[in-house]
Amino acid sequence: MGTEHPAPADLRLQLAQLLQEHDRLAARLREGQTHFRRIARSVWRVQEEERGRFARELHDGVGHNLTAMLHLLAGALASLPAGAGLERARSDLARVQAVAESTLQDTRALSRLLRPQILDDLGLEPALHWLVRSFSETHGLGVTLDYDAAATTLDRDRSTLVFRIVQEALANIARHSGATRVDVTFRTGERDAELSVRDDGRGCVAQAALQRGSEGGSSGLGGMRDRARLFGGTLSVDSAPGDGFRVHVRFPLTDSNPEAET
Ligand SMILES: Nc1ncnc2c1ncn2[C@@H]1O[C@H](COP(=O)(O)OP(=O)(O)O)[C@@H](O)[C@H]1O
Ligand SMILES: [Mg+2]
Repeated sequence: MGTEHPAPADLRLQLAQLLQEHDRLAARLREGQTHFRRIARSVWRVQEEERGRFARELHDGVGHNLTAMLHLLAGALASLPAGAGLERARSDLARVQAVAESTLQDTRALSRLLRPQILDDLGLEPALHWLVRSFSETHGLGVTLDYDAAATTLDRDRSTLVFRIVQEALANIARHSGATRVDVTFRTGERDAELSVRDDGRGCVAQAALQRGSEGGSSGLGGMRDRARLFGGTLSVDSAPGDGFRVHVRFPLTDSNPEAET
């Protein structure tokens, strides 16, 4: 009893149908990915806008009230007559003044951490200069910024992406590196942008860093890599124990090629 083989013509037809089906599924997958990226990006955008609102509220609301309070306290202190057994009142007021002053500093710092106004008002380059300068002052590290993208206008989402990655990389340097020098470079070419943050600290096993990072939710290295991917970009880490640490990000400047994802 013989097995029946389909005729070659039938096989060709079946193969053609399978290929067609494959193309159709691949196209649907791409559509799904584009759709997913669009949604994820708008969720992230909403989150950033919300942070911006809180930041302004803190700065303009709470911050201004504290400033007014400091003026009133200074006036009250100045109007206390000398001597007259008021030393206690004077020192209490001075203490209140010190607490109000440090609360004002904290409020401003928190506001900037949420979303610095300079990023929305003046754009990425001044925001990065400010970030790098204040990091360098706070941590006593030598930090350079080489920004070579003046000819490119980055949109708001991509500016935020770069800013947040530098912010995270600097936070990591303060927390993990023991470095003395940091170099930040950002440059754009015709199609792509490239960001690199490098330090001369103790480094670590790069793969382990990314693995640990991907467990950390949206803020760590893994979260940053996910965000870079939403823009068709890649994030890589170059490090070894005792040999410094480098985060490198590359992403296309426009969405014209949504398949650029790796
Ligand atoms: N600049 C750095 N120098 C040395 N190790 C680093 C540096 N940046 C990150 N790492 C390592 O990578 C890990 C993952 O970083 P991250 O994803 O930001 O998570 P987290 O900072 O919350 O630990 C860190 O726990 C640390 O071990
Ligand atoms: Mg971190």
